[in-house]
Amino acid sequence: MSTPDFKALRREFPVLARKVYLNSGSYCALANSVRAAFESYMDDRLAVGADWDVWVGKNEAVRARVAKLLRAQDDEIAVTASASAGINALATALDFTKGRDKVVVSDFEFPTNAQIWHAQEKRGARVEHVPVAADGYIPLEQFAARIDDRTRLIAVTQVCFRNGARLNIAGLARLAHERGALMLVDCYQAAGAMDIDVKALDVDFAVGGMLKYLLGTAGIGFLYVRGELIADLVPTHSGWFAQRDIGAMNIFSNDPSPTARRFEAGTPPVVNAYATEAGLSLLLEVGTPAIEQRVRALTRHCLDRLREIGWPSVTPDDDARRGPMVCIRSRDAAGLNKELLDRDIVTSYRDRNLRATFHFYNDDEDVEALVGALASLRDRYKP
Ligand SMILES: Cc1ncc(COP(=O)(O)O)c(C=O)c1O
Repeated sequence: MSTPDFKALRREFPVLARKVYLNSGSYCALANSVRAAFESYMDDRLAVGADWDVWVGKNEAVRARVAKLLRAQDDEIAVTASASAGINALATALDFTKGRDKVVVSDFEFPTNAQIWHAQEKRGARVEHVPVAADGYIPLEQFAARIDDRTRLIAVTQVCFRNGARLNIAGLARLAHERGALMLVDCYQAAGAMDIDVKALDVDFAVGGMLKYLLGTAGIGFLYVRGELIADLVPTHSGWFAQRDIGAMNIFSNDPSPTARRFEAGTPPVVNAYATEAGLSLLLEVGTPAIEQRVRALTRHCLDRLREIGWPSVTPDDDARRGPMVCIRSRDAAGLNKELLDRDIVTSYRDRNLRATFHFYNDDEDVEALVGALASLRDRYKP
């Protein structure tokens, strides 16, 4: 693995010249190439008007890049409008009536990955939540106690959006399969900042979206479905872009695509696909193994410096239990977020925690800028 030239790469993100940008967990910094892709959509609109072949091609380019990112096949990827859209489409294909009605989720979930499963209660599902242990983490044993022969699905986040904790996804997939259940991972807070191999993790489904670490934009996401499962999963969520032959225009039956495209629906998110193709191309060029290594070093540095100034973090210290996010306790997280913004340091907050989220375009100076600002604000904001 050769080391990318991270210093040169930083120059591709103009906002970094003006801000300390630690907010990729909300929305990535805009790359020059992504901006150019948006503009090329406008140029195409003016030059051609409705260039459908090119537009559908952009969607396919996104599919191929997501497959490469996750180490899956193109046919195992649905390009969706959001992570929620992917989970919803999948939910309609699952049967909760044949002795397996339980869906196990964790208390680390982003709302979408709990609300959608609760919505399935109308179709016979029972949702069980795995609570957080006293140390703020959810160990495998806590899941094991709740996964049984009535469990249809385990649906969990890879990295928690509230505290940055990373779950043991490979271990969970093993547990799920030992007990005859399926396994969905919501990798939205991990994909792009961490190296993900869905085959090595052995998950059945994975969802995410493009606006955070994947360097793309809003209004476009993905759903990975393990190839061997696709034929038996027939979503009631459908549409013309989910059909075997998109051009068939047949209004007398539903003939789902034999690929994961059956989880799509209508007209693809064309503009977003332009931007996302560019974002994913850049990301793949840098390479997720190198990105994961850099991001881990940055979060490590951040946690070590926080300890030095005596400021508590709620993110696990263990490198194996942490994603690209460091969450920092505060007496007033919203107020602290605002103070930092006034100093050109962009973060976000959830609950009582400030969230600093790191990508390959961050560096050690960003960590020092954040910690220095925190030190100067400790009287008002440190818990
Ligand atoms: C872990 C996680 N899952 C899902 C989502 C939202 O997904 P979408 O809005 O694409 O449905 C987010 C957004 O912040 C997230 O952090």
